[in-house]
Amino acid sequence: MKRAGIITGVLAGLFFLGCGKTMYTNVDMPPKRVKLIKDFGEDASKMLLKELKKELKTALKTKGPVGAIDVCSKKALEITEEVAEEIGDIEIKRTSFKYRNPKNKPDSYEAEALRFFEKTLKETGKLPPYYIQKVNGEYRYYKPLKVQSVCLTCHGNPKEMDPKVLRKLKELYPQDKATGYKLGDFRGVIRVSIPEDVIKKSCL
Ligand code: HEC
Repeated sequence: MKRAGIITGVLAGLFFLGCGKTMYTNVDMPPKRVKLIKDFGEDASKMLLKELKKELKTALKTKGPVGAIDVCSKKALEITEEVAEEIGDIEIKRTSFKYRNPKNKPDSYEAEALRFFEKTLKETGKLPPYYIQKVNGEYRYYKPLKVQSVCLTCHGNPKEMDPKVLRKLKELYPQDKATGYKLGDFRGVIRVSIPEDVIKKSCL
């Protein structure tokens, strides 16, 4: 049902094409296709963010920051897979150069996307809204993530973080790279992979 909803939404969106907007992609393709991939990617990443935030908020409220780490640690990857399954045909991952869980380490294509965001941010002072790559039969949609104040509890300056939180993080992630962020920093990306077939089938 969800999938059908997304596709209908995407098709409805096709009418608003061709308004000469910049396309953030490393492949040459018609704006119509970019729009379709963008809509798929946005829907999937928004759904993931909603689920993660809901879980994080409840955990922080009921268990406090140390307990919430446990929830993030056990559930983040699970929730990511569940959202991908619910939408169907896609794969989702969160990744960053400064990753906490080694399972979230970027591959070479993801590293290229991360560099694109970092470079553009440095040159223009702004994060591009998305980036699209074509990789081995799939399109990869990347959504950049910024550090908000709630993130600082677990990703902030270690000197300002609760020592109990730091201890717990060290215990679970001895190689943790994901602290030292400031409000508004570029934290990493959500990657949504959509098979080329799905996009081709949906393109009129
Ligand atoms: C309660 C602590 C906590 C808070 C608050 C928190 N995170 Fe995390 N974050 C974690 C943990 C633990 C992981 C590792 C999850 C795993 O094992 O997959 C993580 C992983 C991530 C990752 C995946 C890449 C990596 O480093 O492994 C991203 C991206 C991320 N967090 C972004 C955010 C953002 C953005 C916010 C604020 C909206 C936030 N986090 C708030 C604890 C937290």
